[in-house]
Amino acid sequence: MFWLIDALRPHRFVELGTHAGASYCAACQAIELLGLHCSCYAIDTWKGDEHAGYYDEKVYHDLAAYHAPKYAAFSRLVRSTFDAAVDHFEDASIDLLHIDGLHTYDAVRHDFETWRPKLTQNAVVLFHDTNVRERDFAVSRFWGEVSADRPHFEFLHGHGLGVLGVGDNYPKAVASLFAAGEEEHGRGAIRAAFAHLGQVVAHFSDTAHATRRTEATFVLTREEWHRQMEQRGSQITALLAERDQLAARGREREVQSALDRKEWQLQIEGRDAKILQANAQVIEKAEEIQVLKEKLSVAVADRENARSEEKRLHEILGAVYSSTSWRVTAPLRAAKRLLTTLGK
Ligand SMILES: C[S@@+](CC[C@H](N)C(=O)[O-])C[C@H]1O[C@@H](n2cnc3c(N)ncnc32)[C@H](O)[C@@H]1O
Repeated sequence: MFWLIDALRPHRFVELGTHAGASYCAACQAIELLGLHCSCYAIDTWKGDEHAGYYDEKVYHDLAAYHAPKYAAFSRLVRSTFDAAVDHFEDASIDLLHIDGLHTYDAVRHDFETWRPKLTQNAVVLFHDTNVRERDFAVSRFWGEVSADRPHFEFLHGHGLGVLGVGDNYPKAVASLFAAGEEEHGRGAIRAAFAHLGQVVAHFSDTAHATRRTEATFVLTREEWHRQMEQRGSQITALLAERDQLAARGREREVQSALDRKEWQLQIEGRDAKILQANAQVIEKAEEIQVLKEKLSVAVADRENARSEEKRLHEILGAVYSSTSWRVTAPLRAAKRLLTTLGK
């Protein structure tokens, strides 16, 4: 695509069938790099077909997002059927047409014939999949017919690509390509050269995809690693906090038990003091009791003595009362009591 655009220098490029945009963006990239004044149009329903398969909206949106910032200055994505789009193009206005829609014989023939009037006199038409020979792919058959009496070159690698000249006056490089297609040696050398270039591009593309996949995996692995590190970090922080809490609780308990011990000690000391005090009181009381006992003994002895004395006096008194003199002096004691009463 790069070589052809450089060699042909088209003013208008149209692609019928763009899908994810591989071939179309290659053309846009070449036009931009070469600084050509070329308007470009990608025409597709972006719904798919029986051969490409039917796909969802993401294909179109991904391409639109990729395409707009890079190529919108000279290129448009036209969401339409090929037939509905064709009347929007002036006759004899397209220098380069890439036909890559449905690949049945009728479809390719129809697309070529419908768009044929839109081609400039010396336009080039590319036919994709000229070398696919399976199911009802029949570009090869139509290519055989359409290229029979026109300048052309067919690449066989990949799925095959036919380069057709609809006129007879081409830039030297393009004319040389068509000429090389006429003889076996030149044809083989050019096919080999472009097949190798294609392989290099495919290899770069595979490597880029593999690198992106590896990077994505690495990013995932790195993110997973970070996630796990963060998780471990949180666990460690939680464990440290728990350890600090336990240490603080341990210290609290130590302080508390020291306080308890002190309190206990004080209580024991208090009790000991009370016991000592009580002992001293007991001893004191015992001494007092001893003194009292002694006093009691003395009192008991005194009382015994007093009783003995009393008894002795009673006996003496009894002896007196019963004596004769006491009875003789009785009137005198009566007169004395009378006088005492009268004197009062
Ligand atoms: C083989 S793919 C194109 C591949 C593309 N050129 C590339 O480089 O990968 C064919 C595309 O043609 C589109 N298509 C087929 N027939 C069509 C039609 N009549 N009108 C519009 N789009 C059509 C399909 O939607 C599909 O996206």
